[in-house]
Amino acid sequence: MKKIAVFTSGGDAPGMNACLRAVVRTAKSMGVQEVFGIRRGYAGMIAGDFVELNERSVSGIIQNGGTILQSARSKEFRTKEGRKEAFKNLDGYDIEGVVAIGGDGTFTGAKVFMNEHKIPFIGVPGTIDNDLFGTDMTIGYDTALNTAMEAIDKIKDTADAHDRLFFVEVMGRDAGFIAIMTGIATGAEAVLVPETETDIDKLAATLEKNHRRKKTSSIVIVAEGDDEGGAFDIARKVKERFDGYEVRVTVLGHIQRGGRPTCADRVLASRLGIAAVEQLLAGKSNLMVGMINNKIETTSFEKAIKHHQEISPKLLDIVKLLS
Ligand code: F6P
Repeated sequence: MKKIAVFTSGGDAPGMNACLRAVVRTAKSMGVQEVFGIRRGYAGMIAGDFVELNERSVSGIIQNGGTILQSARSKEFRTKEGRKEAFKNLDGYDIEGVVAIGGDGTFTGAKVFMNEHKIPFIGVPGTIDNDLFGTDMTIGYDTALNTAMEAIDKIKDTADAHDRLFFVEVMGRDAGFIAIMTGIATGAEAVLVPETETDIDKLAATLEKNHRRKKTSSIVIVAEGDDEGGAFDIARKVKERFDGYEVRVTVLGHIQRGGRPTCADRVLASRLGIAAVEQLLAGKSNLMVGMINNKIETTSFEKAIKHHQEISPKLLDIVKLLS
């Protein structure tokens, strides 16, 4: 292949820049003549927003959060016309293969696109949610965990100082990985995740029991996609049942998506970026590269999206056991 393209798409994740750097430098070292970055994901593919990248244009970015190519969620790409326009642009630049860095929405788009147009895609898992099958960790997840953990530690200080109960909402529309891991790491009282049914009566009863046992402050972590609602909803529902604590709610929100990637994310992003280019140049397509037990593995887009990594019930047991 002489010309390839790379883009970042969906929710940005710390480490995407490290991955872009690895893709560009690996491609160049393997004889690819031109590497184009597509700005703003599929939206930029439709708009023809392409920029040539070389070894130097990806200097000094490995330590930065966000993505130099920016990201987007494109509604237009969901239409046949939008995808046709995107293909016209790739074809116009003589692009022979594409590396897509993103999450399930990105790979779903790639799958549909490849059914309609003959161009190979290799995916790299980049999302803080860690909700893809075929990799132990997605790029950005480790950084998001550490950001959320540090924030919850701070909340714990003030919760203790005022004898308060805090409901802290972390990101994860469909996945509770950030909630469960930060819950264990911060010694939370309870963790509510979309993967399991939340029992508000039981939660209120546990908090009441703790209160009777003179536990003066508590943290409950709520994944934003919990079946009983976000942290504000849960706080209200608990208060209706047990009103013994002074309650506060904190939504951590997008701070979890930013910041300098951790060492683990930079290394993961670099290794997966290299692997993606190797796969593409070996003539592979329709695959996501991932890291399982410290080894590079590939998984079809179909499986990566559909099989959804599951939260081990053992992790939920740990919260109960240690709180
Ligand atoms: O996909 C990553 C993620 O941060 C989810 O955890 C969250 O639900 C969503 O993106 C938020 O998306 P947006 O930035 O479009 O509001």
